[in-house]
Amino acid sequence: MFRSLGLLRSSVTITLILADYARSFSTFQWPNPQLAYADKQLYEGSLGILAQNCAPRENTTIPAQWLRIAYHDMSTHNVDDGTGGLDASIQYELDRPQNIGQGQFDSLNDFRAFDIFAPFFGMADVIALGAVFAVAGCGGPLIPFGAGRVDATEAGPATVPEPQQDLASHTEAFRRQGFTPTEMIGLVACGHTLGGVRQVDFPLVVTDTDDVLQTFDTTTNFDNAVVSEYLQNTTENILVVGPNVTTRSDFRIFSSDGNVTMQSFLSSDTFNETCGSLIGRMINTVPSGVTLTQPISEPFDYVVLGDNPDRTVTMLWADRQGSNCPSTGCTSPSTQTDEAFLTLIGNIQGLTANRFLFNATINATTSISKFWFEVDENDGSDPIVVNNGGSGFVIEQDSIFIDNGRSEAVIITPTFEQYKQVVVAIRGDSSSTVSITTFDPASDATTPPYLPTIITTNLQLDERNPSEGGFTFFTANVTDSVNFVNITGNVGGTSYTQENFDMTVAAFPFVQISQ
Ligand code: HEM
Repeated sequence: MFRSLGLLRSSVTITLILADYARSFSTFQWPNPQLAYADKQLYEGSLGILAQNCAPRENTTIPAQWLRIAYHDMSTHNVDDGTGGLDASIQYELDRPQNIGQGQFDSLNDFRAFDIFAPFFGMADVIALGAVFAVAGCGGPLIPFGAGRVDATEAGPATVPEPQQDLASHTEAFRRQGFTPTEMIGLVACGHTLGGVRQVDFPLVVTDTDDVLQTFDTTTNFDNAVVSEYLQNTTENILVVGPNVTTRSDFRIFSSDGNVTMQSFLSSDTFNETCGSLIGRMINTVPSGVTLTQPISEPFDYVVLGDNPDRTVTMLWADRQGSNCPSTGCTSPSTQTDEAFLTLIGNIQGLTANRFLFNATINATTSISKFWFEVDENDGSDPIVVNNGGSGFVIEQDSIFIDNGRSEAVIITPTFEQYKQVVVAIRGDSSSTVSITTFDPASDATTPPYLPTIITTNLQLDERNPSEGGFTFFTANVTDSVNFVNITGNVGGTSYTQENFDMTVAAFPFVQISQ
């Protein structure tokens, strides 16, 4: 996995992950911040921790709550006009009785808690990712995950199915959402293998006030018990056998084709495959015009090889004149190897991964045009060249960039408040101008919608860092939780931009100041 790049006196921090299982080199083309970020969230992100082992909460499970909110959010889709879908409009729809439940608020809180929103990865992507973790966390199928959903800015139509509606309404609701009557049976059975119905939310469905939550089946896991118990007439699914006949919606749906579909789900394989495919379609149901990245079903942004403790990895680069090895040097061995901690998805797939870090000093004048790697197994075989499919990892421009070495992560004592002092290097003089647009995923809101803060700031000439090597330095302070930065500058009449600089891997030196 190749990460942030700083130039000049400062080090180049580039990381490469090698996971220890055999497969061909990835087709991933760097740079692709969106796909790289989706891959990182799926395989190394923090969100999955909450779904591990089908974690319990509020008499149900966290995964049950995450799967339900994903369906409710998607329910606004209308195939006829291409509107709605999984677009986080649920954030504006929680006052509707159809969306009742503490689980919806808790889920959205989970989704914002780790500050993983990015300019190209909003709440809708996190809801979809949550569904993938939810199903896998409870032992269900692995669902490929692509990113690129677009967050709605207002509520969609009130079209979530409710238990008191008749079969015709449900069939029509699912048709409008893009699912056939048979797929409706599947999707409801796949959803209702997790969790259950809460008495406080649906007192007309769960009439016994001692019942806090009536589970759909007797197992917590994602399995076909909801099916077998229904077919064996042992089910206690309140939407099948509840005292209120009007709200037996699962019964009407499950039996709508004479139980043919439910019978087929007695095969766990069929159940898992069908659920993987239907829930996959559910999370990929988006308004027309929204394009998702290709779905990730194995680590994408990784170069993957068998495990070998003798392996050495070297970074190489070419200068801006194209010379592969300027006199000032052009190779750097990895300085550190860290084990990457993979999410439950990586664990289920049996993967382990190591990250190789590099610290290269690059001459300011000759600079760098592209870099690549050589992986040597040190077993007599030829080194493998990792060069981004042939082109190398190309540095588009070196006129304006965040200087990793001069920027600082500042901690104020005794309050331990933190902020980042960003320094931008410009290949030009002090007449240059530069501004940054910062993306802060943290939201101060206490209720949904949880919206990021995007601010554009003009940088000031950096008094602390005098010009050096033809570069002038500009600076601004940014909130600690900012995770992505776009830089725009004008150097000698030419405009430059660097988009989506990833602050989370920038590794600025820490500085403590007392107040
Ligand atoms: C006709 C369609 C459906 C109806 C009428 C329906 C109805 C309900 C009701 C009344 C609850 C209880 C919620 C609460 O107590 O707060 C529930 C829970 C749930 N539903 Fe559905 N549902 C439908 C379709 C689906 C689908 C398609 C999925 C997902 C694929 C799904 C996933 C869930 C999950 C996971 C829960 C458990 C939530 C928890 O335990 O916190 N439902 N559903």
